[in-house]
Amino acid sequence: MRVTLFGASGLLGRELVREFSGNELSRNDLSGDQLTAPSSKDADLLDHARVRNVVLESRPDWILLAAAYTDVDGCESNRDLAFAVNCEGAANVAEAAREAGSRLLFLSSDYVFDGAKRSPYETTDPRNPTSVYGQSKARAEERLLEVLPEVCIARTSWLFGHGGKCFPATILKLASTRPQISVVPEISVVNDQRGSPTFTRDLASALVQLCRASARGIVHVTNSGNCTWYDFAAEIVGASGLRARVKPVTTAEFPRPARRPAYSVLSPASLHAYNIHMPEWQDALRRYLTSAPAAASVV
Ligand SMILES: NC(=O)c1ccc[n+]([C@@H]2O[C@H](COP(=O)([O-])OP(=O)(O)OC[C@H]3O[C@@H](n4cnc5c(N)ncnc54)[C@H](OP(=O)(O)O)[C@@H]3O)[C@@H](O)[C@H]2O)c1
Repeated sequence: MRVTLFGASGLLGRELVREFSGNELSRNDLSGDQLTAPSSKDADLLDHARVRNVVLESRPDWILLAAAYTDVDGCESNRDLAFAVNCEGAANVAEAAREAGSRLLFLSSDYVFDGAKRSPYETTDPRNPTSVYGQSKARAEERLLEVLPEVCIARTSWLFGHGGKCFPATILKLASTRPQISVVPEISVVNDQRGSPTFTRDLASALVQLCRASARGIVHVTNSGNCTWYDFAAEIVGASGLRARVKPVTTAEFPRPARRPAYSVLSPASLHAYNIHMPEWQDALRRYLTSAPAAASVV
């Protein structure tokens, strides 16, 4: 496959680069995949002409669009930028894909849902985002399906991985920071938001499989199982062997600018339809804690 990746420096992008051009001879090297991964400077999603040139020059079979404005709270005070990058930028890529005859895989989010459900969200459930970030992603999904009906939209959630800020890294830092040696750190974490933590390494592997399977339409791609942020933090502390007390709190006690869904578990049925099965999040967490960071090099 010839692949062009937008967002190579991001949490997920780094693992996609690794998946396509890892240091060791991977099955992708053997199968002769070719990756083009321009930086955000070389291909700003807002620069329609530049995006078009990058795509027309690389003429990929697949474009993976992992670039986005992902600061969920920042999006609340930067609505225009959120829509410009996440929606208009994505539409720029889709138009270029249509012109080049390339397939497009777009990364979307569990935050397109309002969280009112208490059973896993299916791909057919209506979007009803509660945050500007979620709105920009939901609108992007609608735009892309109009511009490029054969687009593949991979919704994922609660990403963690090497090479960037993520929840386990924050918890590990808090758990190992103690004002005095005798004091066990206490970490307050919300216990009323439920979702599926997803390791970028597992996600990258599943996305490549989706491309190989010529997937189209909306697919939900997360690690299996679900938990609250409190459960997740407790598992991180337990698995790392650090001594810290994790205290459950409510979202109301810790108000943030963006409203998050209370429940955003995504049903895996759409992924299983391609015979792709994701490991449990606890297994993924253990591999994250014991694995080396992905190579930071960008092709
Ligand atoms: N993180 C999560 O928990 C989560 C959950 C659900 C869905 N997702 C989605 O999954 C995808 C990957 O997320 P992530 O966490 O890996 O993102 P990330 O770490 O925040 O990385 C974002 C990437 O987008 C690039 N970028 C930002 N603005 C750009 C622009 N105007 N033009 C070109 N590139 C631009 C960044 O480049 P620079 O580094 O150069 O700025 C970076 O490579 C995104 O679509 C996100 O919405 C993420």
